[in-house]
This record gives sequence, C-alpha cells and structure tokens, in this order.
Amino acid sequence: MNLDTLSVDLIQNKLRTKFIGQEIKYFEEIGSTNDIAKELARKGASEGLLVIAERQIGGRGRRGRSWHSPSGGIWLSLILRPKLVPQEVPKLTFVAAIAVARVIRSLDLNAEIKWPNDILIDCKKKVCGILCETEVNLGYVVVGIGVNANFDKDYLPEELQETATTLKSELNKKISRNHFVAHLLNEFEDSYLTFIEKGFSPILDVWKEFSCILGENVLVYQDDTKFFGKAIDVDQSGALILKLKNGSTTKIFSGDVSIRRQK
Ligand code: BTN
Repeated sequence: MNLDTLSVDLIQNKLRTKFIGQEIKYFEEIGSTNDIAKELARKGASEGLLVIAERQIGGRGRRGRSWHSPSGGIWLSLILRPKLVPQEVPKLTFVAAIAVARVIRSLDLNAEIKWPNDILIDCKKKVCGILCETEVNLGYVVVGIGVNANFDKDYLPEELQETATTLKSELNKKISRNHFVAHLLNEFEDSYLTFIEKGFSPILDVWKEFSCILGENVLVYQDDTKFFGKAIDVDQSGALILKLKNGSTTKIFSGDVSIRRQK
C-alpha cells in the first residue's frame, strides 16, 4: 500500500484513545467533513466519531470563507458532546490547536499558534485551520481540522501562496497521514480530557507557550473595524487582550490577526 493512502485500519491500529476515533467514517470525496459530522451528530452519533475525507469540494473555513481541500491533505471532523455552556465552546478550538501543534512539532517543524487558532510554521505560514461548530441545544460540537499535508504549496490558491504552506513543502517529503491522524487523535483526547477534568487553565498555559503573538504588535480585522495594538494576553475566556496606542486595553472576541513586526 502507498505510504500516503488513508486507511481506517492503519489509523485505528495506532490509537490509544478511549473514545476519540473509535468510530471512523471515511469518504474519498465529500462536500465538507464538518457538514457530514453535524448531520451524523443530529442523528445521535456518539462522542468521538471521526469523519475524514481524501478531498473536500465544499470545505469551509472561519468567517464564511471557503477552505481549499485537495487530495493529500488531512481534512477531518470530530463529534464531541461536552457539557459546556455556549460561551465555553470556542475553548475547544484551543484544545485542538495545542494537539495539532504538538503533532507538527514532533515532525521537527516549528509550529506556533496565532490567535484565535491558526497553526503557522515559524509564525509566518499557515499550515492548519480549525473550525468549531455547535448546536448547543442539540448537545454536540463538531471540531473540524484541516492540515495542508502531502501536497505542494503550488496547489494552494494563488492568493495564499505567500501566507500559507504545506507539510510536504516544509519537509521536502511526504509524511504518513495515517500516523499523523492517529497521533493527533491521541493528543486530542489527552488535551480534551484535561480540559473536561481540570478546566481551561492547563490548556491555556500550553497554548501560551506555543503562541507567537503575545508581546507583538498586531492588527486585528473585525468585519469593518480594525484595531492596532500590542497583544498582551489571552484571558480565561479565550479573548485576546490588546493594549492600544492610548494606553487603554480592549478585549477581542473574534477577528483575524496580522502581526506587524518593527523592521
Ligand atoms: C480556518 O478558516 O482557518 C478554518 C479551516 C477549517 C478547515 C477544516 S477541513 C475539515 C473541516 N471541514 C471543513 O469544511 N472545514 C474544516
């Protein structure tokens, strides 16, 4: 078998989880793994079910954007059923971000996290995005993770070539996606159980260690508004604390951050 063929058996052979990935639905081609996971969750699928696809033709990103998902990537969604109030649901993207960053770091790449939860190589090029969706009254959260893995970055849309990359382009070789996915599911379950049992603090501590924006000057785009300031902290709710030029601080709950380093 080609090293790069996704295989449910090979993934599950490497799992040491109690529930994450114990059931896996694989698709060669799909609209969006998040959409299928949501549909399965509404029908009562169990916590931990994983939807994974070779390619997505309707991959979705944050803030209504589309997510380019060719063959060779890692496009997956997990169904979770945590007992959380709605404001706490975004914290699950922090849980996912530290799990992904740990796995990419194990490949000897410098994976860093840019608020809210993009994974960048050397704080410059995005290699992974996370999209968390929920219907709290239906009791589920879907965590979608997209990793640009085994394809060259020339396959990314032109407008992303400067700001995004792939694992293959960084490493000059393909990785074993089965190994990566199993490692990710193992890490995810560890972090998720820490969050459920001990709360957000231990997750945030690791997140801050992996973060590359704290202490940096940043521009935050929020719909039609822009904020410029120094990213001084992320608080216990996951909000970004910015120190503005006039010395006051403001909390940002959503938006896109770009780092403005002084030359
Ligand atoms: C972002 O905008 O950074 C989030 C991107 C999330 C992409 C993943 S790929 C698997 C899952 N299915 C989707 O349609 N989106 C997420």
